[in-house]
Amino acid sequence: MNDFNTDSPTMLADLVITGATIVTDTAQFAGAVAIKDGVILAIGDASAMPAALEVLDATGQYILPGAIDAHVHFREPGYTHKETWETGTASAAMGGVTTVFEMPNTNPPTGTLPALQMKLEAAKKAYVDYGIYGLLAEDNLDQLETLIDGGVAAFKCFMGNTFGNLPSPSTGAMLEGFEIIAKHGYRIALHAENATIMARRQIALKASGRHDAMAHLAARPPVVAIEAVARAAILAEWTGARIHILHVSSGDELRPLREAKLRGVDITAETAPHYLLLDEHAYEQHGSLIRVNPPVREKKHQDALWQAVADRTIDMIATDHAPHAACEKHKADIWQADCGFTGVETQMPLMLTQVVAGRLSLCDYVRLTATAPANAFGLYPRKGTLLPGSDADIVVVDLAREGIVEGRHLHSLGSSTPFEATPVKGLPIHTLVRGRFVMRDRKLIEAARGHGTSVRRIQHMPAPTPRNLEHTTAAVTRAVMAV
Ligand code: DOR
Ligand code: ZN
Repeated sequence: MNDFNTDSPTMLADLVITGATIVTDTAQFAGAVAIKDGVILAIGDASAMPAALEVLDATGQYILPGAIDAHVHFREPGYTHKETWETGTASAAMGGVTTVFEMPNTNPPTGTLPALQMKLEAAKKAYVDYGIYGLLAEDNLDQLETLIDGGVAAFKCFMGNTFGNLPSPSTGAMLEGFEIIAKHGYRIALHAENATIMARRQIALKASGRHDAMAHLAARPPVVAIEAVARAAILAEWTGARIHILHVSSGDELRPLREAKLRGVDITAETAPHYLLLDEHAYEQHGSLIRVNPPVREKKHQDALWQAVADRTIDMIATDHAPHAACEKHKADIWQADCGFTGVETQMPLMLTQVVAGRLSLCDYVRLTATAPANAFGLYPRKGTLLPGSDADIVVVDLAREGIVEGRHLHSLGSSTPFEATPVKGLPIHTLVRGRFVMRDRKLIEAARGHGTSVRRIQHMPAPTPRNLEHTTAAVTRAVMAV
């Protein structure tokens, strides 16, 4: 026990972290944090902290809200040789990530209640908290409200094809799905690439004999994203649905995104470290390993994305953690390589390196990785910030600590990363989820396996005002029947 203020035994905290700089999206100050029963009890000067069962000295380090990664693929059920909930969330814990939102392109896809129940069962092994994306597809519109009742935290719609090859819904099905979900307030995340443009391009490229890595980039020109972002925004504007644009990769799609924001559409957007840190040279350097949807693009796009991060057109950084086995990534024929790579554990070291380099402030980093996703998915202020009463989802980082990204040391089953051998400065040292260590001194706390819970218990997404309800298919059909 420490020797702080012991006047009130009822105020005995479980843990006090001292000596660090506390960082939120708006402020950074020296202080201590007291934690009790999984929530933050007090923040302030060390002398003002209650007595505690344990004191952690974090002198010289920084206390941040744990990252909320709105875009991970954990592959279970269905592809457990690529990742499981256990390995994926262990990787998150080691990466300073305290909440993940997990994608529905598993097998079975998370588009029905039984599939959701399988996923919730698998997620019982989670080290960190999680939200589950339900699938919005052509053929499951009658399942959407069942999925909401079953516990999904958001929806995902694959406008463009990617791993799992889930068919993209027609615009008509998307509209009807948006109408249904708009009434409940949940955000719909879009893989915003136009499927038919890409399919035709890919066939033409193959027919012309292209099998090199750069052919993947040629198959997905920015127009696929411009068109899809604009179309999704139109449907969201019409229905009042909240949407989220996943993995913004091009400077060009920023225009429809900015325009939609100006029109008042409830639209958020993310980009990922690979779009901010890599460019066209990645294709010669990494070959098929770099294959990801959407593709890593030319340098001018990278510059535009940094600008959009600065001016807040892009709200958050997520990873699109998409692990595959090494043999599935390394192929002589680009069209045979699975798309995506591991990311949930490398985001924080990579992006803190940018903070140390002066490209991003620490407050901005917290906003992009914690506060903004918490706001977008209805978790703020329980998560995404450090306030008395917030969940004690905390990462203690050391900005002076240097390291090298090494795939074989990641806790994900997917060890292939285009950041292999990249030097980093700024590492997460301890990760706490609701006050419990899931990583301590850079070691996974295996006993915390299963500590993660669904964020649905705290999620607050009040329904916006749905629009144009008199035009919904259901309303129009009823009108015809009444004639
Ligand atoms: O490259 C990708 N891989 N992009 C996605 O959107 C999905 C992901 C996957 O699931 O492998
Ligand atoms: Zn993805």
